[in-house]
Amino acid sequence: METLRYFSRQVVEEALTMSEAIELMKDAFRSLSSGEAVVPLRVNLPQPEQNAQTLFMPVYLPSTEAVGLKMVTIFRDNPIQNLPLIHGLMLIMDGTNGQPLALLDAEYLTALRTGAASGLATDLLARKDASVLAVFGTGAQARTQVKGVAAVRSLEKVLVFGKNTAKAEAFCIEMQNTLGINVEAASQPKQLLEADIICTATTSNVPVFEHQYLKKGVHINGVGSYRSDAREIPGLTMQSAKIVVDQRSAALAEAGDVVLPIQEGLFEADSIFAELGEIVLGTKPGRASSGEITVFKSVGNAAQDLAVASYLVRKAQKLNLGVVLG
Ligand SMILES: NC(=O)c1ccc[n+]([C@@H]2O[C@H](COP(=O)([O-])OP(=O)(O)OC[C@H]3O[C@@H](n4cnc5c(N)ncnc54)[C@H](O)[C@@H]3O)[C@@H](O)[C@H]2O)c1
Repeated sequence: METLRYFSRQVVEEALTMSEAIELMKDAFRSLSSGEAVVPLRVNLPQPEQNAQTLFMPVYLPSTEAVGLKMVTIFRDNPIQNLPLIHGLMLIMDGTNGQPLALLDAEYLTALRTGAASGLATDLLARKDASVLAVFGTGAQARTQVKGVAAVRSLEKVLVFGKNTAKAEAFCIEMQNTLGINVEAASQPKQLLEADIICTATTSNVPVFEHQYLKKGVHINGVGSYRSDAREIPGLTMQSAKIVVDQRSAALAEAGDVVLPIQEGLFEADSIFAELGEIVLGTKPGRASSGEITVFKSVGNAAQDLAVASYLVRKAQKLNLGVVLG
């Protein structure tokens, strides 16, 4: 009988670095695009009366010898009550004999792997000399977006575009102390023209910036919108950029940033240049010129969660991390 462990948020946070998570994303996206990973489209359970939905995300990754299921709740009124928007738990079973291995808090796990995916995408798609990052949003995902990008490029400045001035100022102080780089709140939309890399990590349903304020050669990680009727990136930007997604089928079903420009005739499904895993595999190239605009649109994939969680389980077996439940 194998040991069943529980990993709290604190254990997940302390046991893994962003750089380790970025390495794990290479495996996750490679196995997704090679067809090895088994990741059906997630089940989305709506609770309109609570302005909420719950996602059930099953996954089998043969390379990790593990099967997983992540359950994430998204309660959109939570931030008003100072509660996290997202809570989650992930269950891991042994992929060779089906025995239960671990239960993990998935709130930070989700933020970590989402930031790590943007870190990987930035490494493959942003200009090598990129030094200014702009981030939209000041919540849980925005924090790990900044950490993911800072792990792969030498940043000189981070510009923060928030909705709430006090929260943006507090975010700047926290991130400046964590990363030791200059982090400033932006006061005008046109300041975006300074950015070499942009991360959108908001709950907005409409574009959070204007296409005219993009710098030539900018790379954008769009992680916030995950419903087919919500978008953060202008249609014009999607039309003129090289678009890379986490998984084509999921992007075409769930990413308003992709679905809405298609409905508007600005873009076609075939215009998606690549999945991130195809660039990792080398079957598609990354950035082709210093002037092109690149976009990584992610809706989030359970392969990312299982890659990180199963690594944590293996590490825990060696270092005796987490709490043994039985
Ligand atoms: N792609 C993925 O893998 C993935 C993973 C996790 C979460 N998400 C999504 O990312 C989004 C953010 O999640 P979170 O956990 O950080 O939520 P959060 O509530 O902690 O933060 C949301 C932030 O968006 C800001 N915001 C809303 N509208 C804005 C606008 N127009 N301009 C600037 N800022 C704006 C809010 O002020 C807040 O700072 C959610 O939609 C979530 O579902 C995506």
